[in-house]
Amino acid sequence: MNICIFASGTGSNFNAILKAVKSKKLNSKISLLISNNPECGAVNIAKNNNIDFENINRKKYSELTDKQYSGVFLKALKKHDIDLIVLCGYMKMIEKEVLKKYKNRIINIHPALLPSFGGKGMYGINVHKAVIAAGVKVSGITIHYVNENYDEGKIIFQKCCEVKEDDDEYSLQKRVLKLEHRYYWEVVRSLENLGF
Ligand code: GAR
Repeated sequence: MNICIFASGTGSNFNAILKAVKSKKLNSKISLLISNNPECGAVNIAKNNNIDFENINRKKYSELTDKQYSGVFLKALKKHDIDLIVLCGYMKMIEKEVLKKYKNRIINIHPALLPSFGGKGMYGINVHKAVIAAGVKVSGITIHYVNENYDEGKIIFQKCCEVKEDDDEYSLQKRVLKLEHRYYWEVVRSLENLGF
């Protein structure tokens, strides 16, 4: 498969998947990174590994209609013959036309057990803060297909971890990230096996 990573931040999940590609645990190739943020860590990872990178954000294309803006993504995805889109901390909604074209070919990782602690504004450290505030005893990761609603696509995989008495959002984030790096590429491999 040709994979396109969408990322907005540090890119540690992107890096973990890239590591699995490099060590041949995955047969796929990461052909493209799309980011709304040209300054983020994920972009550096792409640059350091000679992975093509596209900076696409609404501000840059403010004169375009929504349909035309979707077209910018679709053109880049087509150019690289992308089979699967893997969201790694991508903080924007996926454009409608892209969702249509890549139905069941876009996956996301969420740092909690959906359907709890999902929805608008629930990303990154905010999620772990909410988990701690709720006083729940388990958290974890959810890997799911992406549809038109935040965090509501069909769940593919979940793994839980303990929330400890003395956790704060940062210690919990660390534990959850370990699960993310451990399992995201395995889910990609299971999709490879499905013959995408
Ligand atoms: C990850 O924890 C990922 O689960 C989360 O953003 C972080 C990105 O980290 N995604 C969401 O919250 C999506 N709702 P990374 O840039 O180091 O991969």
